Amino acid sequence: IERTLVLIKPDGVARNLSGSILARIESKGYVLAELKKVNATRDLLEQHYEEHVGKPFYEPLVEFMLSGPVVAAIFEGHRVIEGFRSLAGTTDPTTAAPGTIRGDFGRDWGLAVQQNLVHGSDSADSAEREIKIWFGE
Ligand code: GTP
Ligand code: MG
Repeated sequence: IERTLVLIKPDGVARNLSGSILARIESKGYVLAELKKVNATRDLLEQHYEEHVGKPFYEPLVEFMLSGPVVAAIFEGHRVIEGFRSLAGTTDPTTAAPGTIRGDFGRDWGLAVQQNLVHGSDSADSAEREIKIWFGE
């Protein structure tokens, strides 16, 4: 069965949106398999965001992800990777479609990194890699 890693980023947790976000994923029909609230470490984030090392937003992104707790979840279901990315909306919350998590709950706060509430794995390989990073084997 397909799995994906979902993170509710520090902005979503701080704004008390964790329950609303998880409810939307469950309402679409995906199954919550694992759930925890964690304080990320720099080491963990360097692994998670290795594809972005060297990009201008990399350091602000890591600092943002260290700014407060995140909620990490594993959701399961046929085509859940694609389905969650569709539900999350595009990266920039200003223009993410209404009806998506980022489009409905997010905006631009004028900060160095796009605070866009959620992360979802973008392929089967990255899902398995990211699940290992956040939940272990
Ligand atoms: P994730 O699900 O978090 O991986 O988002 P994504 O796949 O839509 O975006 P991507 O993996 O390309 O980038 C990771 C994160 O870096 C994004 O979610 C944003 O928080 C931030 N980010 C990406 N691109 C930019 C950018 O061009 N400018 C800024 N300021 N932040 C960015
Ligand atoms: Mg990404």
